[in-house]
Amino acid sequence: MDGTTHTPLRLHIGCGPNILPGWVNIDSVARAPGVRTDIDLTALPWPDASVDAALAEHVFEHFSFAEEARIWPEIARVLRPGGVLTLEVPDFEWVCAQFLASQDDFRAFYQVGHADHYAGCGRALDQRWGILQTMFFGNQNGAGQFHRSAYTEAKLRALARMTGFAAIEVTRLFNKGGQALRAVLTR
Ligand SMILES: C[S@@+](CC[C@H](N)C(=O)[O-])C[C@H]1O[C@@H](n2cnc3c(N)ncnc32)[C@H](O)[C@@H]1O
Repeated sequence: MDGTTHTPLRLHIGCGPNILPGWVNIDSVARAPGVRTDIDLTALPWPDASVDAALAEHVFEHFSFAEEARIWPEIARVLRPGGVLTLEVPDFEWVCAQFLASQDDFRAFYQVGHADHYAGCGRALDQRWGILQTMFFGNQNGAGQFHRSAYTEAKLRALARMTGFAAIEVTRLFNKGGQALRAVLTR
């Protein structure tokens, strides 16, 4: 020990309006004071093995295929050995099964100009044309609020292996109106 204290470097990726004190809160859109909008997730401005933790809740499904291919290795690069990436994404298998089991009773749920567009079938999970649509395509109520990718547990495990994580734990939970996968990956 050299007597110096280590200040953890923790990245909150795609923070939205949720500012975490003591974290670098990153988003492409500033929805709260203190959000860093100058960080390119495909070329993170930190050295190899310098980051202690990264958190990304309901963000990875917003990346294009090209971004996904670059951001996974980039986060793995900056995390130190033993560093942890925690991410949460919609459980796409659950979303597909729920959609197929649901009623096809179309009622317009998006109302142009309304902030809360869950009209029509709204948040009912037994209806195809409501909140289930947003789990496929994003809620589309602002910049960056579009889904461009999807995740299953098997895909999470494959990407963890391919990008050099030592361990991954995946759990299922109900959050943001539907079932999600929460993964804790250790570098
Ligand atoms: C569904 S919101 C989730 C916000 C927050 N993590 C939460 O759980 O409430 C997704 C966020 O990811 C951000 N985002 C999407 N693509 C991004 C990118 N390439 N770089 C940084 N932020 C991005 C969006 O602007 C949006 O704030």
